[in-house]
Amino acid sequence: SGKINIAIDGPAGAGKSTIARMVAGRLSYIYVDTGAMYRAATWYFQSLGIEPEEEELVLQTVKDLVIELIPGELGQQVLVNGQDVTEQIRSLAVNAKVSRYAQIEGLRGRLVSLQRQMALRKGVVMDGRDIGTTVLPDAEVKVFMTATVEERASRRYKEMKEQGEISLKQLEADIAERDRLDQEREISPLRQAEDATLLDTTFMSIEEVVETIVSYCKIHG
Ligand code: C5P
Repeated sequence: SGKINIAIDGPAGAGKSTIARMVAGRLSYIYVDTGAMYRAATWYFQSLGIEPEEEELVLQTVKDLVIELIPGELGQQVLVNGQDVTEQIRSLAVNAKVSRYAQIEGLRGRLVSLQRQMALRKGVVMDGRDIGTTVLPDAEVKVFMTATVEERASRRYKEMKEQGEISLKQLEADIAERDRLDQEREISPLRQAEDATLLDTTFMSIEEVVETIVSYCKIHG
């Protein structure tokens, strides 16, 4: 069919999900937000009172976890065992702990196999931390998107401003801590795949980033 898979990785707040959704729209591809899957799992364990340190319990209960990502007009809807948790998975409580649950090998294994299934028929834009290295090592286009931590915090801040519950400094500290945990974990740490193209978006507009990635896809299409 000439369809390809596109892997977009990078640190927290680099704008991956905004960009990935727009690239998917341009190509009429399916967008898969793997961060939302780790967030949904985190919400689920927190709702059961299970801490990331309780690995045995996590691995037992993950068997009963069903995550659905439903594309919609206003972005995707996230369901956990049929319950809509789209807003809850963006809470500060989930932010604070998601990178801890994401270190658990058995949980990653489960989510990675779901993610691979979603990409089998190609035509997928998937964003996360380990897509180019682990989930889809054969993706035809791989992009590693970065921006300075100050720029990433300030973008997130503008997005969240109406909530008014967190300062720019706090946001910057949260993002830096999440990056540290994601880079230092043993299983599938955040890093650029050897064959990925590095895209520093600090001084780029959203449109420029989308155009750049779409142009990489045309070379492969
Ligand atoms: O992309 P987002 O910031 O929503 O991801 C939330 C967290 O989920 C990340 O900080 C990381 O700990 C985890 N994650 C991961 N692997 C992915 C996607 C997300 O470990 N592929």
